[in-house]
Amino acid sequence: MKKLTALLAVFVLAVGLLAAGCGGGDKKAADGKDPILAKDELIVGTEPSFAPFEFPKKNSEELTGFDIELIQALAKDMGYKKATIKSMGFDALIPAVNTGNLDVGMSGFTITEERKKQVLFSQPYYKAGLGLVVRKENTDVKSVDDLKGKTVAVQLGTTGALYAEKLKDKGVTVKTFNTSDLACMELKNKGADAVISDKPVLQYFLAQGGSGYAKMIGTGLTTEDYGIVVSKKHPQLQAALDKSLDNLKKNGEYDKLYEKWFGEKPAK
Ligand code: ARG
Repeated sequence: MKKLTALLAVFVLAVGLLAAGCGGGDKKAADGKDPILAKDELIVGTEPSFAPFEFPKKNSEELTGFDIELIQALAKDMGYKKATIKSMGFDALIPAVNTGNLDVGMSGFTITEERKKQVLFSQPYYKAGLGLVVRKENTDVKSVDDLKGKTVAVQLGTTGALYAEKLKDKGVTVKTFNTSDLACMELKNKGADAVISDKPVLQYFLAQGGSGYAKMIGTGLTTEDYGIVVSKKHPQLQAALDKSLDNLKKNGEYDKLYEKWFGEKPAK
């Protein structure tokens, strides 16, 4: 009898789960079109300590940057009336896309095999890679190989953090921060000897005053492609983003944004 009750309980639970899975946001419209494409508003998540990709405008809460303007242009091309940008911790973005709290993650996301197990990516929209920055007066770090016994600051959940993690075996101490700005601040305050982060972000940081106390070492540690994060439940959204990226590349809007933020034409 006990067994039967247990079996029944499992059955009821299974039916319940199935029903829940078929309900709400994941429902397909009768024409097979993903309802996420029929909305007026695209909900975009980002972690905005990442200039020139996503960062607050001067004396304002409003966000700007290459990623922000690109996703706004993409949303428009896809037929959305508006794109609403929500800020959150970088490591919270993929989970929020997967629970449906966000439609897309636009945050300088490197396309990695590890992340591809969890989410879909748009086609690559920017070529980046990691860089290494130390304080200006530092003369003993000429490459990553000289970081033994040193402390490196990184942002939580990033490819830079993963890279630094692998250096731990070689006697490198890693300090992890919630934002990219805080990692750079730690370098300034001498709580860290180096920062490993995305090279274009480090270059921008140096150009915006960071060069007063910091400098780049070498030409870069990796090459990485940025992609827009979409849930595996929404392949149609991924396809629509790719199509609109093609459109913006063809009509010159992509090049215009690229030149505005990076001061040069994108490499062909
Ligand atoms: N490209 C790196 C990664 O995907 C860092 C991205 C950090 N982005 C940000 N908005 N803080 O891990």
